[in-house]
Amino acid sequence: MGQESLTITDNRTGAAYELPITDGTIRGMDLRQIKVDDNDFGLMSYDPAYINTASCRSQITYINGDVGILRYRGYPIAQLAEQGSYLEIAYLVLYGELPTQEQLDTWTYDIAHHSIVPDNFRRFFNGFRYDAHPMAMLISSVAALSTFYPEARSIRDQDSVELQTRRLIAKIPTLAAWAYRHSMGFPYAYPDNDLSYSGNFLNMMFKMTELKYEPNPILERALDILFILHLDHEQNCSTSTMRMVGSSLPDPYVAVSAAAAALYGPLHGGANEAVLRMLTEVGDVKNIPEFMDSVRRGERKLMGFGHRVYKNYDPRARIVKDIAYQVFEVTGRNPMLDIALELERIALQEEYFVERKLYPNVDFYSGIIYQALGLPPNMFTVMFAIPRTVGWLTQWREMLNDPEQRIARPRQIFDGADTRNHISISDRS
Ligand code: SDX
Repeated sequence: MGQESLTITDNRTGAAYELPITDGTIRGMDLRQIKVDDNDFGLMSYDPAYINTASCRSQITYINGDVGILRYRGYPIAQLAEQGSYLEIAYLVLYGELPTQEQLDTWTYDIAHHSIVPDNFRRFFNGFRYDAHPMAMLISSVAALSTFYPEARSIRDQDSVELQTRRLIAKIPTLAAWAYRHSMGFPYAYPDNDLSYSGNFLNMMFKMTELKYEPNPILERALDILFILHLDHEQNCSTSTMRMVGSSLPDPYVAVSAAAAALYGPLHGGANEAVLRMLTEVGDVKNIPEFMDSVRRGERKLMGFGHRVYKNYDPRARIVKDIAYQVFEVTGRNPMLDIALELERIALQEEYFVERKLYPNVDFYSGIIYQALGLPPNMFTVMFAIPRTVGWLTQWREMLNDPEQRIARPRQIFDGADTRNHISISDRS
């Protein structure tokens, strides 16, 4: 193979340029030398939605969308989901190596002992209307956490970064559960440090008058695996938001809040809620042909299908689908599964979906499980945000330590009005 470079001839001037190719990319700034004269700003690349732009170097998550590969720190997702516990794999994603037993014990103790939130949050959540969406409450409450830890703004202080990281990972399930409890009109349940991360979340969600909540071990394990599957996914919309907001150096609480806001959208993490609403709307397998016609006419999307990177089956979707059957052994089969399976069967063989490489993604089956666990659809994206907080923080820390990174500030193509003078209002028509 030839030299790792591009030779570009600018046909406007006849000038030739040699641009080095590094890791399958050219540097955007190398285009700026291509000018028609000394007054020329130079070329930029134009890439709406950054479809073909690498924004950073990263060592956290590797995805090969064409063949459906997902690895955290080099470990295949299927192995981690099958053999790991949530906090163990969260440690791997964050620190880059699987923890020793001693490291895991310390990590588990630290997370458990940061899980409580200031009691002001009882009044904070009570300030929301009865029907406030839990994602909006989570986004607000995470940002509000920053008011209790002003030292978090010292993002160059490694001890502070470490402490805020543990606080956020520990408190996000408590805030999530309290948002749910408020929306249900239930009293708030406090963390139980004897329980696992997932078990404690179930405790804070569903504990009622019993003295000690005992999570069902099958449901606890299913939730652990779901949390592992949602830990990180390289430079998706919400993670890129975390990096973008983090690049101006605010505290991590408001950056996580911004990332969660990006996740909330129905094209991203809000898709699992949209899938359940779609399945409910379809209502019965006999209605699927008419529904699929509306999708093929482009009147709506098949929520939970398609992906910017995966042009093959999302490896997470396969695992989630398997978990569904384990959960239904305990909760009883969710009738929505039959509709989901038939939609998938049709989509995997229909030309419209095949030619567009639309496969089920992680959001297609997760909502059916959350519903079986007793969660309302408006809690589904909150379930996504809990583990993804680890990915957001890991990416944020990597960005802070990357010497190539600085405040993010893209450019634009301006095609608005040229210079014009102000007109007094009496002269305007
Ligand atoms: C997540 O990025 C990540 O890594 C995200 C995520 C993570 O872990 O962080 O994996 C989590 O967000 C998963 C995706 C969840 N979203 C959904 O399930 C919503 C439904 N999916 C689509 O909106 C869409 O597939 C996206 C947003 C996921 C991807 O959009 P792209 O890459 O911009 O693709 P596109 O919209 O350009 O679609 C290409 C074609 C279009 O058809 P044409 O205009 O060429 O005729 O495919 C069609 C689209 O209309 N299409 C769909 C479709 N998704 C794309 N048609 C029907 N149903 C769909 N779901």
